[in-house]
Amino acid sequence: MRNLEVNGGRLWQSLMELAEIGATPAGGVCRLALTDVDKAGRDLFVAWCERAGCEVRVDQVGNIFARRDGTDPSRAPVMTGSHLDTQPTGGKFDGAYGVLAGLELIRTLNDYGIETQAPVEIVAWTNEEGSRFAPAMMASGVYGGAFSTEEVLDKTDQDGLRFGDELERIGYAGEHPVGFNQPGAYFEAHIEQGPILEAEEKTVGVVTDAQGQRWYEIEVTGFEAHAGPTPMPSRRDALVGASRMVDLVNRIGFDFAPNACATVGWMDVQPNSRNTIPGKVRFSVDFRHPDETTLRAMHERLIAECETIAQASQVSVDIEQIWHFPATPFDTGLVNAVRLAAEHGGYPHRDIVSGAGHDACYVARVAPTAMIFVPCEGGVSHNEIENAAPEDLTAGTQVLLDAVLATAGGTS
Ligand code: HGY
Ligand code: MN
Ligand code: MN
Repeated sequence: MRNLEVNGGRLWQSLMELAEIGATPAGGVCRLALTDVDKAGRDLFVAWCERAGCEVRVDQVGNIFARRDGTDPSRAPVMTGSHLDTQPTGGKFDGAYGVLAGLELIRTLNDYGIETQAPVEIVAWTNEEGSRFAPAMMASGVYGGAFSTEEVLDKTDQDGLRFGDELERIGYAGEHPVGFNQPGAYFEAHIEQGPILEAEEKTVGVVTDAQGQRWYEIEVTGFEAHAGPTPMPSRRDALVGASRMVDLVNRIGFDFAPNACATVGWMDVQPNSRNTIPGKVRFSVDFRHPDETTLRAMHERLIAECETIAQASQVSVDIEQIWHFPATPFDTGLVNAVRLAAEHGGYPHRDIVSGAGHDACYVARVAPTAMIFVPCEGGVSHNEIENAAPEDLTAGTQVLLDAVLATAGGTS
């Protein structure tokens, strides 16, 4: 097999062009799932795929599949991709890199006139971030059998807008049933979104597993009253109770160090008026740990101690776990293909566990799956300053190409 070289300049150019869609003044990107800017990003990606000769198909939850036929149509496709939606203050590379690395792979195969035995499909999964519509990885979750199409289409955002209606509105309510094209293998390239690769000067992360997650929505109910005449001892202040629970979440994260993560990212205070004691507070909790037993112990502490805090604060608490996502091992055969490709390319690399969830975690339930990480500057992501080095992005794409070719079989 000739040494095929991806075109890093073309990849970078495509990343920067896509990043203009939803660009924020601080240099980041905001393309919330199923908004008009998400549509614009999807439309650009579809146009690029069609220009590269792919057949584009969309399933009933909006997942986009761009197919490049192989010489053996009986083989299941080797897929690679990620997501085009972002956080509200997202960056240029989270998700977009994996989708456009897949496109660069196709463009490179075209450049060299390479035919693969198995078809190759690039995927853009709908609503990976779970920011507008919770939980995360929703559409790949349908693909992996964690959610039904109907329950996902009926999800609503905080304004009460329905997922299925928004999908129709942006023109991506596809005709194909989810899972119409089961993959033979799936690879996902992604920035690490953490500090390890950069700190250890590694170009490639060979991702062996992804840690487990539990997401909650907690509602604290007190009693609205006047901020002036109401004596302190008689108050039932929902925000005071919630704040003590936020501190508990943070303490749980530290108490299960070094691998636990615990975050409250969203809070809604009602009536949110300066001179009315808050009567109701809702907030999110995001727990993560690579070990399921420990993640369960974190869960149990949260449930028990929130109740204790509520009683001491003269409020009531209702805790709903909205998502549990167990720790996920990736396919050892494909992980090895990634490791061999990194060695073949002469890239410094190391095995790594993913701190973030990815669509690959759900696809791993229905097909052999592996991921490729590259460093990002300062390990920062889910932040408008997110950045990555063109040479690292190119290296990750080269590893992706080599691993996909080793799996799909390539003839030149
Ligand atoms: O939350 C996550 O890990 C991913 O970015 N959706
Ligand atoms: Mn991502
Ligand atoms: Mn993300």
